Amino acid sequence: MVMLKLFFIFLAICIAEPAKILGIFPTPAVSHFTLGFRLMKELADRGHEVTMVSPFPQKTPIANYTDVAVESMTEALDEYKKDFFNRETMCFTRKIKFIHNMGYSLTEKLLSHDNFQKLLKSQAKFDVVIVEYFLAEAILGVGKVFDAPVVLFSSLPSYSSSNNIFANPAPSSYVPHILTQYTGYMDLGERFVNLAYNTFDAFYKYYYMFPLHDKLLKTYISKDLDLEDVMHNASLILLNSHPSISEPVPHVPNMIEIGGFHVKPPNELRLDLQMFMDEAVEGVVIFSMGSNLKSSDFSEQKLQAVLKSFGKIKQRVLWKFEEDSLPGLPSNVKLMKWLPQQDLLAHPNTKLFISHGGMLSTIETVHYGVPVIGIPIYGDQKMNVAKAERNGYAISVPFQNLSEEKLSGALHEILNNPKYADNAKTRSKILKDQLVSPMDTAVFWIEYAMRHKGSHHLQSAGIHLSWYKRNMIDIIIILTVVDILLFLIFYYIIKHIIHQISRIKRRPSKKYKKLEKD
Ligand SMILES: *[C@@H]1O[C@H](CO)[C@@H](O)[C@H](O)[C@H]1NC(C)=O
Repeated sequence: MVMLKLFFIFLAICIAEPAKILGIFPTPAVSHFTLGFRLMKELADRGHEVTMVSPFPQKTPIANYTDVAVESMTEALDEYKKDFFNRETMCFTRKIKFIHNMGYSLTEKLLSHDNFQKLLKSQAKFDVVIVEYFLAEAILGVGKVFDAPVVLFSSLPSYSSSNNIFANPAPSSYVPHILTQYTGYMDLGERFVNLAYNTFDAFYKYYYMFPLHDKLLKTYISKDLDLEDVMHNASLILLNSHPSISEPVPHVPNMIEIGGFHVKPPNELRLDLQMFMDEAVEGVVIFSMGSNLKSSDFSEQKLQAVLKSFGKIKQRVLWKFEEDSLPGLPSNVKLMKWLPQQDLLAHPNTKLFISHGGMLSTIETVHYGVPVIGIPIYGDQKMNVAKAERNGYAISVPFQNLSEEKLSGALHEILNNPKYADNAKTRSKILKDQLVSPMDTAVFWIEYAMRHKGSHHLQSAGIHLSWYKRNMIDIIIILTVVDILLFLIFYYIIKHIIHQISRIKRRPSKKYKKLEKD
């Protein structure tokens, strides 16, 4: 009997109902799509029927995987792209406005897209909708359209906007805003600046962006919906972070870290690359500024600095460079327009990774335990590199300061001091030491949201409070007013008493007066 029961349980697990899953990954950036595709492809491989909205449709069909192409999304980013290199000179209010406005443009572009509108009106049924959450509040209305739980996916660690959706505590005293270059260890001045970032971000979001998103929601999804309602109706969020890479910070129970889930077992290298790597007796330095930035856009001065620094080291260098050639290239350097980054990082001869400090690159380098020279430019890159530096496996050479002297100094230090490689290996061990693999964790929670028709039982009560109540601003105001009143009452009582005493003193007693008259 028991055996039979066990058999049926086993059977039920093996042939778990394949579900219909909608994925919405609209950000037109290869790094964002890489993550979304990895997740959705895995769900398809595990037997679910996947529909994927993205700007990057597949060229060859994949089983269980249907594309809804929104290729024109790239246009929404064009006007922002030209500012990428300049962003670091912006003051913090402009930086914050920049990312929110970019998020808004992307959201509008998606919601107004013909193919997306067709999907919304198609009466299609889904068991769960996975939305890449990147400053795109209005998109969350899709949960209502398909009457399905919404699982959010973030390519970033938790930050101000996702914290807001799930009412996750993130005190300015030790959780740095994602656009700062701080770690959790801030001095008084830095905490002031961090508070300024967070406060401006909250105000701008609540009083400028949210009304705009509410309008988008009403225009493109349904005029009966309210932004607050759909926003806090999200079931859970999968975060592309882990304490080995980001920092240990508070998370409410429906924020789940799956950082490292996209890393695959390494593929074999192309023959010429394999030889290049194998024959590098002194090791290899990998240099890539990621998929969005082009090192071929560096100024002449910066290119010269890089070339001269590379010419001085005995290691070989593999450089992701987007043009065919570069004059004055030292003989130990090989240019390639595209690098199989993960497979190269996995090679035992890889000694160092020179990176822009993007989230994916940071995770991959930690996974394979390779130390880093970070050349951060914008967004979360400065913070990623600052954390890596604090964890002892990286040296930061910010893009503005990139010179032959700075880069050569960093190369010399990191290639000759074994502590960086040791720390990178320690981090790698922490990342890999998990009860369940990050990918299995991700799939579990997506299926969990489906099984329970949403996971609203995991939501903290904080989501029902507006931001000022959540941060106890209302109580602080009441206490301040009461304090001021008490102070005033006390002040007038004392003043009155002092006045009386001095009057008594000044007025001679009657007896005394009588004596005077006599
Ligand atoms: C809230 O989520 C549930 C599923 O978890 C869905 O059925 C419902 O339509 C959603 N409501 C809104 C207002 O988004």
